[in-house]
Amino acid sequence: EHLALWGGRFTSGPSPELARLSKSTQFDWRLADDDIAGSRAHARALGRAGLLTAEELNRMEAALDELQRRVDSGAFAPIEDDEDEATALERGLIAIAGDELGGKLRAGRSRNDQIACLIRMWLRRHSRIIARLLLDLAAALIEQSVKAGTAVMPGRTHMQHAQPVLLAHQLMAHVWPLLRDVQRLVDWDKRIDASPYGSGALAGNTLGLEPVAVARELGFTKVTENSIDGTASRDLVAEFAFVAAMTGVDISRLSEEIIIWNTQEFAFVRLDDAYSTGSSIMPQKKNPDIAELARGKSGRLIGDLTGLLATLKGLPTAYARDLQEDKEAVFDQVDTLEVLLPAFTGMVATMTFDTDRLEAEAPTGFALATDIAEWLVKNGVPFRHAHELSGACVKLAEGRGQELWDLTDDDFVTVFKDFLPADLAPQVREVLSTQGSVTARSGKGGTSPARVREQIACARTTVESL
Ligand code: ARG
Repeated sequence: EHLALWGGRFTSGPSPELARLSKSTQFDWRLADDDIAGSRAHARALGRAGLLTAEELNRMEAALDELQRRVDSGAFAPIEDDEDEATALERGLIAIAGDELGGKLRAGRSRNDQIACLIRMWLRRHSRIIARLLLDLAAALIEQSVKAGTAVMPGRTHMQHAQPVLLAHQLMAHVWPLLRDVQRLVDWDKRIDASPYGSGALAGNTLGLEPVAVARELGFTKVTENSIDGTASRDLVAEFAFVAAMTGVDISRLSEEIIIWNTQEFAFVRLDDAYSTGSSIMPQKKNPDIAELARGKSGRLIGDLTGLLATLKGLPTAYARDLQEDKEAVFDQVDTLEVLLPAFTGMVATMTFDTDRLEAEAPTGFALATDIAEWLVKNGVPFRHAHELSGACVKLAEGRGQELWDLTDDDFVTVFKDFLPADLAPQVREVLSTQGSVTARSGKGGTSPARVREQIACARTTVESL
């Protein structure tokens, strides 16, 4: 079989050790369908160039159809001696079409342009599946945001109570990065939309083939402009790998939040039984495994990206066998995301929030201190002083083990005395409510109910447009 590919100048086939090292069918066989589609388009290009007669082209297409059927049914599969999916498929084709005709298909193409094209075809198809799954997740988060209505919760920075926010606002903060991941895929697709077929090994081909027609048949609108770049570059594979890794990171951040919210101490969220797991020893346990697996798998998605980048670094610019290493990285990412996202979306769609508890916690920890400072600013106090006066209120309350709204009118009069008249000072109570606090944050992108409604509508439009 090896002699069939490059026998001419060799006196022996590869050593068994080389054959084992070289072999890639165990992972690249999944490109078989794309390879056969490429072969069909290439056969037609050979026909148009007069290198296959009409009769030969007919027989070639019938043989490729038969090969596809055998691949589909499993009747044809790689054997030990096949180096890669292309070698295996050539063996299969020759078994059907015979040596003479089967051996003609390889004219004017190399496994270098072939494999560069196949990885593009395969990734484009799966990028669409992943984009769809991401939109499903975004839609589930949007639905939860709608369901949350005007429920409030503690907003945190540094994990400390900061300012109250709408639960919907916090959930929607996870929607936008996911939509950007989808937009990245859509944008990436424009760049990867060029077929390397016709680049040959690196310099192009002498046979007068029309790569534009081949590209069209394979779903590309263009052909790569430079045959060396077409066969040697994998930046677009790496760009996909970045989006996959970024998606993992975005989901991991949400996971971390869900895991914390699901602890007994927080008790903000409950996960549905169908999307949680138990313990083999502790009967009481209900664990957020989906979120933990998502957090864990994000590490693996990042590893795939960094491994690929390390492979590409320092390669001379034309095909080198190192490039065979591009595939497992992105195959692993796609496999990971395609099982992870549906489970993750199910968990998100079915989780329920304890909105009473969220509301009770929202203003605690002096989360309304900024509202006091901003109320003082509206009453003419320079912010630097307002910040200090509000801080003095916090200090007073904290010292007594109280919250800000427990301070008396006299307390406010005393603290504000250098800046506000005594009849005005107690009116600060107007802003000492969670509802007042969130409603007042009414600037674009803020957490007020009206702005969050606007935000949800905008996200829905974006989902529909993608
Ligand atoms: N299996 C190789 C890859 O995946 C393609 C074969 C190219 N081999 C060669 N000797 N030029 O990149």
